[in-house]
Amino acid sequence: MDSEGWDERYSARDYVWSVEPNQFVAEYLADLPPGDAIDLGAGEGRNAVWLATRGWRVTAVDFSDVALEKGAALARNHDVDVDFVHHDATTYDPSEPVDLVVLSYLQLEPPGRELVLEHASRWLRPGGTLFVIAHDKANISDGHGGPSSPDVCYSVEDTLAAIDPLVATTATIAERTVDTDDGPRVALDTLVVATAPAESAPR
Ligand SMILES: C[S@@+](CC[C@H](N)C(=O)[O-])C[C@H]1O[C@@H](n2cnc3c(N)ncnc32)[C@H](O)[C@@H]1O
Repeated sequence: MDSEGWDERYSARDYVWSVEPNQFVAEYLADLPPGDAIDLGAGEGRNAVWLATRGWRVTAVDFSDVALEKGAALARNHDVDVDFVHHDATTYDPSEPVDLVVLSYLQLEPPGRELVLEHASRWLRPGGTLFVIAHDKANISDGHGGPSSPDVCYSVEDTLAAIDPLVATTATIAERTVDTDDGPRVALDTLVVATAPAESAPR
């Protein structure tokens, strides 16, 4: 979907996604000491704002102005500062390396998906963390919701290949319970958490 499509989707009064952080973001990043972070494809800012409340200096990048406005409102509600930046994720280039990059359901077709993963890996300081959560290809046949096109879905294997030489500490298909009118359903997500080698030189 292009930025106009996302603007339209976000133009509903309410938040499209939860205002709480993604459950895996909260689970895996709660104990990381805060530093500089980029949330790429940040949407309405749920993860960026949560990180900021925990002391992170966050740059939230998205190409939807409507999402960024809603994110800025969420940050004001939580009394935190987040730098909301309008930019295409595939061409964004931070001026300084960072300690954490979050990709949360940034479902891009190839080659954009590989490109953002490769870029994000290079933006990390030595020891920095890349966190990827995304609808997995297996979700199309075996899980609830998410995109129906495999082109925009992730796999653990492809993600690991794109982020080499980062070292994965978690690389799995994670099960996420979704409450529906018909009861709980399970969605399948690619979950990869990886660390930049200590000896790798920042760009
Ligand atoms: C499914 S939403 C996820 C939002 C957020 N990360 C979250 O987990 O709540 C995907 C987001 O990616 C953004 N997006 C998609 N393609 C993009 C691109 N090429 N550049 C920047 N943002 C993009 C959309 O505007 C949308 O906000």
